[in-house]
Order: sequence, then structure tokens, then C-alpha cells
Amino acid sequence: MTDLHDPTHEKALIIDFGSQVTQLIARRLRESGVYCEIHPFNKADAAFIKAYDPKAIILGGGPSSVPDANSPRADDYVFAAGVPVLGICYGQQTMMEQLGGKVESGHHAEFGRAFIEPKAQSSLFYGLFGPGDTEAEQVWMSHGDRVTRVADGFEVIAASQNAPLAVVADEARKFYGVQFHPEVVHTPRGSQMLKNFTHEIAGMKGDWTMAAFRQEAVRAIREQVGLGRVICGLSGGVDSSVAAVLLHEAIGEQLTCVFVDTGLMRKGEADEVVTLFRDHYNIPLVHVDAGDTFLGGLAGVSDPEKKRKFIGGAFIDIFEEEARKVGGADYLAQGTLYPDVIESVSFDGGPSVTIKSHHNVGGLPARMKMKLVEPLRELFKDEVRALGRELGLPEAFVGRHPSPGPGLAIRIPGEVTADKVKILQEADAVYLDEIRKAGLYDEIWQAFAVLLPVQTVGVMGDARTYDNVLALRAVTSTDGMTADYYPYPHDFLGRCATRIINEIRGVNRVVYDITSKPPGTIEWE
Ligand code: XMP
Repeated sequence: MTDLHDPTHEKALIIDFGSQVTQLIARRLRESGVYCEIHPFNKADAAFIKAYDPKAIILGGGPSSVPDANSPRADDYVFAAGVPVLGICYGQQTMMEQLGGKVESGHHAEFGRAFIEPKAQSSLFYGLFGPGDTEAEQVWMSHGDRVTRVADGFEVIAASQNAPLAVVADEARKFYGVQFHPEVVHTPRGSQMLKNFTHEIAGMKGDWTMAAFRQEAVRAIREQVGLGRVICGLSGGVDSSVAAVLLHEAIGEQLTCVFVDTGLMRKGEADEVVTLFRDHYNIPLVHVDAGDTFLGGLAGVSDPEKKRKFIGGAFIDIFEEEARKVGGADYLAQGTLYPDVIESVSFDGGPSVTIKSHHNVGGLPARMKMKLVEPLRELFKDEVRALGRELGLPEAFVGRHPSPGPGLAIRIPGEVTADKVKILQEADAVYLDEIRKAGLYDEIWQAFAVLLPVQTVGVMGDARTYDNVLALRAVTSTDGMTADYYPYPHDFLGRCATRIINEIRGVNRVVYDITSKPPGTIEWE
């Protein structure tokens, strides 16, 4: 992993046991100005921890079961490092077991909303609640096992209905364990609990800001790249644009930005990007019109992973071709974000699974010769936006909804054809126009249309129609890791459906997707 942070910054270490929400711990910490990194349990050994020099350690959750013989453990050095430790869910259970307590399976599980009642005072709940408070605190639980005996030195701080030892603490050693997940929004005051841990208990200052990140990133890019040449693929989204502007600040003319018009962009998207870079930033841009290559290669391909792999490969071929034209480039820069890295990679022995091959990480072909520069790979989306503002990108651009690298190809389930792309571009533009008119754009994390490979019967005028179904999607989210569907008023949906069916030939039915993530994903493929 590229190490972009200034070593003088205070750092927290998050040890991952494979939970899908571990990244949210990092987000919450960073929101309170604490720099942190997530590392898998089997890499975070004594030597690593000493070199990393954390001010606080958090053990995350995970799908394993502590009573199982081969379940993962934290390195014993975690408890000997002399820094505060917070165990969350599985992290709490392994901590109890490793320090001499007991964890058992087969009790009542708790999934979802639960309430904890305070049993003793703790700095973890400083300013929040304690004994004497009559109202129970809402938290989010997801566990089958539970702690049944605390380790020596620990006291029970709070209990829930099915986890009498839900929160435990050894205030002297500054070790804390919570059965619930303070990092998810369904634990409403979880952020404050985490801040209590880092700021009050571990005494961290919260000294990590975007202005500091910008300086550090510029320095790290220069260090990595030296005098090498860098090709930066611009996708039209916020991430690659922010990466390009940052790289330009760091290495100026060593950078060549390549904008690949895949023919799979949203309506007007290509022009907006080219204009922004040429006119606003004066950053030279190579504009490659590759619509035929992409559509040609996608002909007959219906499998989502095959589409993603083909698109990843086609991008690289184009970047390599452009690299040759500028006399050879040593590096390829991409706007990869932290959630992309974590979602696409599963560590050895770890249980996290590959849900999708994001084209800027998992989809890269092994044959690629250029090395990667990914200056944003430690940032979350909202941090990238903050960095974009710090770099002076226009607000309208910074606030854009995320757009996936493979573009409309993954919003057309089944085979992608030029006709389908055209229909989707037009319908999607009408949908976004309505969202903007209703003043909803900034409230929504991401909104788009999906053209389904399903035809249904309709009637227009006196004639029978047999056309495609279009699904509308809109979600709220803070980082794309989890999402809820956006609760549009019905009349808004009705307006969109009427306009789309009246204005777009080829669509005769509109449906609204009301699936959250999980269990759905945001994109359909
Ligand atoms: P999912 O569909 O996995 O999407 O819930 C989470 C977020 O990631 C975006 N996404 C991508 N971004 N390359 C990207 O740069 C990709 O291949 C890709 N696939 C999904 C998606 O739009 C959402 O914001």
C-alpha cells in the first residue's frame, strides 16, 4: 500500500477480520480528523505494529466464530503495545478469549437494532450515557456468538437483552470491547463513542486535514514517480478528475491525461470533461474516440464480469497505445478509492469476497506493463470531494454523482448495442433533468436509469407497443458501501415515467428499484 501520510501524524490502526463494514470504522475515525489504515489480522504482527506506531488499535468485526479452532486471532503484541485497544463485535470476542475470558456459540443471535443498558461508568460513553440514565441506548448488533465470561481486569459496562456482557472495559489498561457496531449509522451515537475512544481515551488530537493530505500526496507522488512519465485515465467522474489535478500539481508536464470516450458515457458527459480540463485547468488532454472498439468488443457479451474484464482490458490497451505515442510512460494513474481497494481484494485466509471486479482495480489485465499510481487509494468518496474543493475544482463538478468506469455497459443487463446505449442515454438524461428540476440532485448519492433486457406490451394511442422496460434507481449513501433507496414522492416518479415514455422511443414501461444495499448493490451489474 502506498504510504501517503506524514509520519509525524498520529495514526490509529484498524485490524480487519473480514467484516463488510470495517471500512466504516476508518470513515468514522477520519471524520473526526484521525488518520487510520486498515490492515488484515494476519499482516498486523508485532514488527508491523511497532513500525506503524499507532496511538490506538481497533479490532474490527468478522464472520468467523471464536470457538472454532481455526478462527483468526489478533497478534498478542496488540495487547502488549501499551496503547488503548477497542474490540468491535468479533474483535471484542477474540480480545476476551485471548485475554482469558470465554466466548460461546449457540445463544440467541441478535441482528439489527438492539438496545443496551448502562451497568457502570466508562470513558467510552463519556458525555453520552451511564448508570442512572433511564433510557436505553440504541445500537446495531450482528452476532451469533457472545462473550460469556469477561477476562481478568474487565468490568461489564453495558448489557443488551441477548448479550449480558455487551460492553466490557478495563479502564486501567484502556482496553474496551463492544458487541455492537458503533461504526454504522444505525448506532446513532456510535461516531461519538469512537471519538471518545480516539480522542478522550487515546488522547489523539485529530490532526488530519485535506490541506495536509494535499501536501503529503504531492510529495508522495513526486517520490514514487521521480522523472517518469505518467498517463492518467480520465473517466468523467470526480475521482479520476481529482487525481488528475493533483498529479498535475505534483509533476506538471510529466503527466498526460487521456480521456477515452467509450461511447458508453452519459449524454453530454464527454463534452463536460473535455471542457473542464482544457478550459478551466489548461491541462493537456488526449481525447480518444473509442466507441467502435468498446461496442465491437462487447458484441455478444452478456455476462457482467466478462463485460467488466473486457472493458478493463480495452482501457489498458488504449492507455498503452497513448503511452507509446508520448515516447513511453512508466506509470498509469487512476482514481481508485479506498472502498474499491477493499471490496475487490480478499486477503489470504480472509473471508471477504469479491462482489464485482471494479475496472480500476480487479479488472486490470495481468499483461499491463505500466506501474500504477493511485493517489486517492486511501480516501473515501467524501474525502475526495473535499480534496477536489481544496484543489479548486468547481462545485458543480465536485458534487457530481459517482459514475462507474464501465459506464452504461453495466446499466444495460444483457448484450450492449449502440441502439440500447442511445435509448438509455436519452432516458437517463430526462430522469436527471427531472431530478435537477425538483431540486433533489444534491440529496441523492447516485441516480441513474437501467435499460432492462425485457420487453412488455403496452398501448399508445390505439396501437399496441412491445418495448423495453426502464428501471430508475436512486440511492442515498455516505460512501457507496451501504445504501438505501431514495423515497421519491409518487408524483415525481409518475412525472418521470410519463416524460420518458412520451419522449423516448423504445421504452414503454418504467419501474422504480426499491432495493437497498445490502442485499442489492447500487449498480445492477
Ligand atoms: P456497487 O454497484 O458495487 O457500487 O454497489 C458501489 C459504487 O461503486 C461504483 N462502481 C464503480 N466505480 N468502477 C468504478 O470506478 C467500477 O467498475 C464500478 N462499479 C461500481 C458504483 O457506481 C457505486 O457508486
